[in-house]
Amino acid sequence: MSECSERTIGHSSERSERIIGHGPPPLLLRGVRPYGEGDPIDLMLRDGVIAEAGPGLDATGAEVRDCGGLVALPGFVDLHTHLREPGREDAETIATGSAAAALGGYTAVFAMANTEPVADTAMAVEHVWRRGQQIGLVDVAPVGAVTVGLGGEQLAELGAMAGSAAGVRVFSDDGVCVHDPLLMRRALEYSTSLGAVIAQHAQEPRLTVGAQAHEGEIAARLGLAGWPATAEESIVARDCMLAAAAGARLHVCHVSSAGTVDVLRWARGRTTAEVTPHHLLLSDERLAGYDPVNKVNPPLRTRDDSAALRAALAEGVIDCVATDHAPHAPQDKDCEWEAASPGMLGLQTALSVVVETMVRPGLLDWRGVARVMSERPAAVGGIATQGRPLATGEPATLVLVDPDATWTVRGAQLASLASNTPFEGMTLPARVVTTLLRGRVTADDGKVRR
Ligand code: DOR
Repeated sequence: MSECSERTIGHSSERSERIIGHGPPPLLLRGVRPYGEGDPIDLMLRDGVIAEAGPGLDATGAEVRDCGGLVALPGFVDLHTHLREPGREDAETIATGSAAAALGGYTAVFAMANTEPVADTAMAVEHVWRRGQQIGLVDVAPVGAVTVGLGGEQLAELGAMAGSAAGVRVFSDDGVCVHDPLLMRRALEYSTSLGAVIAQHAQEPRLTVGAQAHEGEIAARLGLAGWPATAEESIVARDCMLAAAAGARLHVCHVSSAGTVDVLRWARGRTTAEVTPHHLLLSDERLAGYDPVNKVNPPLRTRDDSAALRAALAEGVIDCVATDHAPHAPQDKDCEWEAASPGMLGLQTALSVVVETMVRPGLLDWRGVARVMSERPAAVGGIATQGRPLATGEPATLVLVDPDATWTVRGAQLASLASNTPFEGMTLPARVVTTLLRGRVTADDGKVRR
């Protein structure tokens, strides 16, 4: 280590990653198709960046990988991940969730605040951020709670969380709605001075008391209490007006209904929004067998809702895909419907579901996938080093995808501690082959590289 060089990457010295020594040897990716476009080219990755790009690059001194025309995309960014640590390490940990993320092609995840204890202080978010860095498979950006203990009564220390080493830029009470309009207004106003965004779980609580499933024909037939789409739509409309009045940034979590799409179209430019893979693919018709693996909040809605969500994502009315990866331990999920916790795994299946619902029907091309799974979520979450173009001088933070592969989902084989995938047994298109974070391979051929 006599010639040890040291370099920093990141926004500040506290937030930065130290690379000691010369790092891994240069890696030449031979024959990749950036954004699935044009003839295959080579990418030379050196010192964490894309050093050269073009056909027939000189391989001298580099490890060479023959990529046989794999599609190269910027690493995926998930704005909505439940990592469960601290508190519910029986369902997921930052380590197992990071592994699932890397295997799913993700290079950054936003860890939701509904842990036990809730991430509502600078110390709590710093703990999650540090643990993510130690594991090093993906950039873990903690989301801070909007209200103390997600209680909806008192604003949390937003400024202290933003100013902490974790540099929080996304605040959310996800799991519950910030339903008090005065508190929401104050949070929006305060967030403007922090350069932050408030991500709202839009669910009017009085309209969803005891709600178990999408309010409609199927819930009525099954005898399940209804969760009306208007409970989402009315909060989204209200919050768009509050955000515009405050000059603040609002982000709408897990949009689930065609009516919300109408509101977003009306409010275009005043908010950003995400949709989950499960709401793109699945409908409430799945509920017939009362299998709680299909229970999620907001609920699976109708086929028409899914179609509207797909069209909105293609059009850019919905900005991005976010997984709402929600692992649950068997005792919380494998029980009768009403007692089961809502939520579904998503990190390792997201790309394939997006290809199935958006690429195969011609609603998005690979450049569109890069937009909705990497560029837009990185921009909404304010991570400058992610979602970058695949170009010389940019971070070597990318994913290689086999567009022609198919695979069959088996929950027990996923890297998460939990196995509550609604896609069990489905054969889906496209496979993540390799994920790279700043030039380092984090997942390769279905295996995590630590
Ligand atoms: O289904 C859900 N599960 N929706 C949420 O908003 C929270 C999440 C969880 O934490 O399990």
